[in-house]
Amino acid sequence: MSATDATVTANTSANVDAKACNPPECCTPECRDNPECCTDAASPPATDTVRETVKARYGQAVQAVIQGATSSCCGASSGPGIGGTDPITRNLYSADQTDGLPGDAVLASFGCGNPTALAELRAGEIVLDLGAGGGIDVLLSAKRVGPTGKAYGLDMTDEMLDLARRNATAAGATNVEFLKGDIEAIPLPDASVDVIISNCVINLSTDKDRVLREACRVLRPGGRFAVSDIVIRRALSEPVKRSMFLWTGCISGALEEHEYRAKLEAAGFTGVEVDPTRIYSRDDTAEMAKAAESDRDVEATLAALDGAVMSAFIRAQKPV
Ligand SMILES: C[S@@+](CC[C@H](N)C(=O)[O-])C[C@H]1O[C@@H](n2cnc3c(N)ncnc32)[C@H](O)[C@@H]1O
Repeated sequence: MSATDATVTANTSANVDAKACNPPECCTPECRDNPECCTDAASPPATDTVRETVKARYGQAVQAVIQGATSSCCGASSGPGIGGTDPITRNLYSADQTDGLPGDAVLASFGCGNPTALAELRAGEIVLDLGAGGGIDVLLSAKRVGPTGKAYGLDMTDEMLDLARRNATAAGATNVEFLKGDIEAIPLPDASVDVIISNCVINLSTDKDRVLREACRVLRPGGRFAVSDIVIRRALSEPVKRSMFLWTGCISGALEEHEYRAKLEAAGFTGVEVDPTRIYSRDDTAEMAKAAESDRDVEATLAALDGAVMSAFIRAQKPV
């Protein structure tokens, strides 16, 4: 998700002077129909703003789960907030994976893939989940590494951490620990982790280079990076990116594949592989954009986005 959604939530009732809008205020309904507003809308909002809006969004998402609503990572920004599933988040886990997990861990799944199904995890290993959310992938990892291993979940959002800890207790998992912190400054020592997983989080960071350097630092030599994330498959024009930013939550900060590869290599990783797990069609994007009726050229933008965005499983190694 982007700053956009939470900013919209925060500003919906505000009386915004459209011409005075700055990103991310330009994403308010009041502003986005005004052609003179937010000509700089594609430029990224300040890092602190993004962090706070991401926190607010996922804090709300947890409340929705607790109150029994269905949850969504990528719903349209002008919709009713968190509600309904979306083509990115839904049907990620098989029944045999979710059987035995607490219901709230499954409902609070805001990922875009199933990293533990694709990652190699061995008994006794230490796993770290970057942006663990409600803890579903931490609990699945904990089962795989067994009592001699351990699964850490790192998240910055208090409500997510509270839910994840409750889910771990409900699951009776004793080899898990949830840490509060930023994926840009991982609170673990150098070379202390065997496998890094993550599910639809790195695209949210405003400093992906730092996240990847930190991931490499905490992995032991030979350690594995095994992450699900959103990846852009071809260059998109600024207006198309802007619509994507307005319509969706979790894909607006996504990198193009070549950028992701280059950043992983610059951080010190080798053997980078990017495998598509879902490629989003025009109809998928239209579903996510359905509340954004005011966009001036929806059809052209949907055509430009057709097949341009994917969920991918990204692997790499820290050299021995
Ligand atoms: C899209 S949700 C994914 C949650 C979980 N991985 C899942 O699959 O359900 C993003 C999560 O990442 C956390 N997050 C986002 N940016 C973060 C950052 N910079 N540092 C730590 N946590 C972050 C949010 O609080 C939220 O819980």
